[in-house]
Amino acid sequence: MFVSDCLQINESGHLTIGGMDTVALAEQFGTPAYIMDENQLRQNCREYLRSIEQFYGGHGLPLYASKACCCTEICRIMAEEGMGLDVCSGGEIFTALRAGFPPERMYFHGNNKTPAEIDYAVRENIGHFVVDNLEELRGLGAVAVAQGRRVRILLRVKPGIDAHTHDFIKTGQIDSKFGFALETGEALLAAEAALQIPHLELCGIHCHIGSQIFDAAPFELAAEVMLGFLAQIKERFGAELGVLNLGGGFGICYDEDDQPLPYAAYIEEVSKVVKATAARLGLAMPYIIVEPGRSIPGSTGVTLYRVGAVKEIPSVRTYVLIDGGMCDNPRYILYGAKYRVLCANKAADPADQMVTVAGRCCESGDLIQEFTRLPAVKPGDVLAVLSTGAYNYAMASHYNRIPNAPVILVRDGIPRVAVRRENYEDLCRNDL
Ligand code: LLP
Repeated sequence: MFVSDCLQINESGHLTIGGMDTVALAEQFGTPAYIMDENQLRQNCREYLRSIEQFYGGHGLPLYASKACCCTEICRIMAEEGMGLDVCSGGEIFTALRAGFPPERMYFHGNNKTPAEIDYAVRENIGHFVVDNLEELRGLGAVAVAQGRRVRILLRVKPGIDAHTHDFIKTGQIDSKFGFALETGEALLAAEAALQIPHLELCGIHCHIGSQIFDAAPFELAAEVMLGFLAQIKERFGAELGVLNLGGGFGICYDEDDQPLPYAAYIEEVSKVVKATAARLGLAMPYIIVEPGRSIPGSTGVTLYRVGAVKEIPSVRTYVLIDGGMCDNPRYILYGAKYRVLCANKAADPADQMVTVAGRCCESGDLIQEFTRLPAVKPGDVLAVLSTGAYNYAMASHYNRIPNAPVILVRDGIPRVAVRRENYEDLCRNDL
């Protein structure tokens, strides 16, 4: 009935997550709070792992794109589940290492890794670098020589595919700041350069065609284009690269209009295309990598808020004012992102009021959702915004000097704090 299997309504008419009453969780941990169902989180990982096993003989690895939601405990869970990790900053690497995540299963992304980050990642033996540009290639080569290490790399390629998604989160087409373009020959030159740099081992290629994609077709097309490029590299330079990383972007359900494929279906379809295309081009079956970010934690999370006031502006709209907003979820103000909002303590009541849910920041655009339906709510009620497990905590800010909300994991009826709520001292920790 909801956007995620981990949500239900109990006999008191309260929303539950992983079987736990969200109204009680709001009481216990305060609001706003991010709550995530750990069993669902783990199950999502297993679904990717299992389907690579089933449809591709296990010759591949799903990486959790930690930018979606990164904290020590989530990295620990990813390590336990046997996932790889996409990291895109020194901070994500540090967090993952702190969690005991094996460095060899990390892939370091980013279109402008700083010299300090490159140095750090090489020193920590991060498994693969996904190289974005020639400056990085040269800089990385020099660091590898200086540290006397051999560094495994993939090249980030723009396959020129429009995945029909929101403009801000389209990254595969030619007008993108990420990676080397295929059609201009830039990617081939980069491959040639990479193959000549001692201490760098060119292992494969990577692309990421966008986010919140509901269809397997763009991934299939990307796989074909990328395999074509591998064949070209083999033909031109005699190097058969073994790794094909097809990025992330698998969609999730924000409301009932969203109909993502089961993740196994993407993997099944892509596996078929990879096998057939590799055979046609005379290539060995590459090791495939996918990088799901949003689809691992996204639908496992809800954010709980408390209503402070309801402001009715006759013949205009009714604002429901909550104790969080753009500082814990900037996705509406950034992308006009849609969300399903429920009243957690009246989850079974008919949603017969049209309201705008507004945050508490000094910014008119600080809204969570406009013209959405709720039952009549009053101060003290608890609102739950669904599918906030990805790109919410990760994109939180301190605007208006508001402390960040905690991340609470629930598992088998037990909640535990993964990230504690910030206090005012935390806000001033670095002030001199
Ligand atoms: N791999 C790479 C190289 C990426 O750049 C991304 C996301 C992913 C994997 C994971 O993509 P996902 O499966 O989560 O779609 N802040 C935006 C999303 C930006 C995604 C950036 N890259 C949002 O809130 O929608």
